[in-house]
Amino acid sequence: MHSDLLLPQRRRPPRRRFPKKYKYIFLALAVLLGLGVVAGALTELIFYFIEDQVEPSTRTQTSLVTLPPEKCQKRVVGYFNGWESREISLSQLFKLSHVIYCCLGFDANQTHFLDTIISKRRFSDVRNHARASNTGVKVMAGIGGTHYSQYFPQVAAENREFFVNSTISLIKDYQIDGVDLYWHEPDSYGGDKENYVLLVRDLRLKLTELQISQNRTTPYLLTVLTPSFGWYLEDGVDLPGLSEYVDFFNVASDDYTDSSSEALGAYTKPHAPLYYGSADKPKQNVDWTMRYYTCNTKQPEKVNMGLPFFGRYWINVLDPIAKNNEVWRRVETADGVVEKGLVLWKNVVRDGWNISNIKWDQKSKSSYIWDPENKWFLGIDDERCLKTKMNYVRDKNLGGVMIWSIDMDDYSETLLNAVASVNMCSEAKYDKKLKYNC
Ligand SMILES: *[C@@H]1O[C@H](CO)[C@@H](O)[C@H](O)[C@H]1NC(C)=O
Ligand SMILES: *[C@@H]1O[C@H](CO)[C@@H](O)[C@H](O)[C@H]1NC(C)=O
Ligand SMILES: *[C@@H]1O[C@H](CO)[C@@H](O)[C@H](O)[C@H]1NC(C)=O
Ligand SMILES: *[C@@H]1O[C@H](CO)[C@@H](O)[C@H](O)[C@H]1NC(C)=O
Repeated sequence: MHSDLLLPQRRRPPRRRFPKKYKYIFLALAVLLGLGVVAGALTELIFYFIEDQVEPSTRTQTSLVTLPPEKCQKRVVGYFNGWESREISLSQLFKLSHVIYCCLGFDANQTHFLDTIISKRRFSDVRNHARASNTGVKVMAGIGGTHYSQYFPQVAAENREFFVNSTISLIKDYQIDGVDLYWHEPDSYGGDKENYVLLVRDLRLKLTELQISQNRTTPYLLTVLTPSFGWYLEDGVDLPGLSEYVDFFNVASDDYTDSSSEALGAYTKPHAPLYYGSADKPKQNVDWTMRYYTCNTKQPEKVNMGLPFFGRYWINVLDPIAKNNEVWRRVETADGVVEKGLVLWKNVVRDGWNISNIKWDQKSKSSYIWDPENKWFLGIDDERCLKTKMNYVRDKNLGGVMIWSIDMDDYSETLLNAVASVNMCSEAKYDKKLKYNC
């Protein structure tokens, strides 16, 4: 699924420079405040204050596109990758209802949640920036993922109490608002499906106890990141069971990779299309996934549609498979291998794609770049594509969107601004009616 995205970045975009006069003010204040934890926290706030002053254009833009999530309780959930060197920005936080730092690992019988100084610092940074933003954005920790899911089966079967205790400690130690479990590819064998429900049940129980013991007014959040289609979804996940205990589902409808179909032949396709746009394989599209979740939970307000801030490319691309359909093309293999990969939105131009040549496929409602000179094809969600998906979220009364991931956006926050520009509220009142014939 997202495994290939967990690689470190090859190159880092240049950092913004601090204007000199502010630098001196900043330094002087830093000296005055001296060393120590308190000073560290305060200088961080001052940094933000100064940033506000020197970047009026960004701020103005921010206030224009900020979506107050409370208005109709629709969610804009942003995943933030822990390996990223880039820091989360205030203007990103302004456009989110929830930020999830991902992903923390663990062992069969001991917690590795935050085991290095760097991961502790990066996680704390995200939390501190979120609190300093004063927007009420909820801060959560994502646990598991492609790299750290191998112990979920064992822990969920035999060691749930250990896992729950560790999670409660994490929430208390870091004063966060909840956790998101990302059990990558739960199996239908060996009781994963049932044990997953038991794990979230036990966790929910302890979270409620913690809330009561702290006199906290709002419940702690418990959410899950779950598959978009296929075996792992239909055989591995008990949606009605989980929905009794989780606040919402972050659906990985940003990923329709299918190893079985790739074995059948080499071709390009839309990346995460709203509709399939073709008669066969009707499941590999966002519409199918959203319908499946809604019909199986009967709670559309708990379903967040996944939006990818990355795309998928192929090289050595040949002619279209069918006439008048530019997105499905044959690919020439080299020794039986298809050359393909992922591009983060922020790297599209750097990697040689001409963004002004981005095209729209009406059937699948997806965007793509076809470069006939180099014989490259890229399927990637642009602003139009994201806005179309968000209108769908509104029309189907879904709970909101989740973004994988906000650190993949460019520095102008083109994609996040597109997301924030769409009003997902259907009426003044939060409408929970089913909009599918289940
Ligand atoms: C922890 O789990 C591993 C297997 O994952 C096992 O070999 C080891 O004995 C366990 N340690 C304790 C203290 O239970
Ligand atoms: C979990 O925490 C409870 C209460 O704090 C404690 O009694 C129990 O022994 C802990 N269990 C494990 C497996 O650490
Ligand atoms: C919660 O409220 C009760 C009763 O009002 C009080 O006795 C207790 O100290 C409070 N606990 C915390 C952690 O604030
Ligand atoms: C990108 O494509 C546009 C329109 O086809 C063209 O005018 C422009 O020169 C291209 N830019 C680059 C850098 O190739």
